[in-house]
Amino acid sequence: MKIVLLSLVLGLLSAQALQLLQDPLQVSGQWTTLYMASTDPETTRDNSVFKVYLRSISVDSNNIQISFKFFIKVNGKCVYFSTKGRSIAPSIYEVDYAGKNEVQLLPVSSTSLIAYDINVDLTGKKTVMIALLAKGIKTATVQDFKMFKEAVRMKGIPEENIVNITESDDCPQT
Ligand SMILES: *[C@@H]1O[C@H](CO)[C@@H](O)[C@H](O)[C@H]1NC(C)=O
Repeated sequence: MKIVLLSLVLGLLSAQALQLLQDPLQVSGQWTTLYMASTDPETTRDNSVFKVYLRSISVDSNNIQISFKFFIKVNGKCVYFSTKGRSIAPSIYEVDYAGKNEVQLLPVSSTSLIAYDINVDLTGKKTVMIALLAKGIKTATVQDFKMFKEAVRMKGIPEENIVNITESDDCPQT
């Protein structure tokens, strides 16, 4: 499993992170986007459809269906979105949103997930994005942020492309 190998490369998984990985239901909950980085900095600029202010993830008991609830900003205004996806491999989901997406969720701790998104937009352009998501906390722990930076580096994305998402998150809680 690619995801487990990657986790091992990133550092040993904590017991909680392992539990999160083994029990997809624990992925369900209220998550927010803390940081993002992208191969194309345009996708993480203000008013980009990919600059996603996440609110929740829910996974069904069979771990087949996943749904994401979030805001994006359109002309500076928060617009609510809900999108569904389905599992195509362990921890990997196919999601239709601004083209096709392959989203991989990698637990890094009991309160953090790293989400990889490979987006192929309607013109066929491919973009790789990485987000650090947090559950119940507003700032990343030093360790989680380190893991995120390492994940960004491993995708060949320059560190300057990291964008602080909470900084501009003034959208409603739900
Ligand atoms: C990101 O923004 C938040 C909210 O403004 C702030 O608390 C946090 O320190 C920032 N992170 C970094 C690494 O600058």
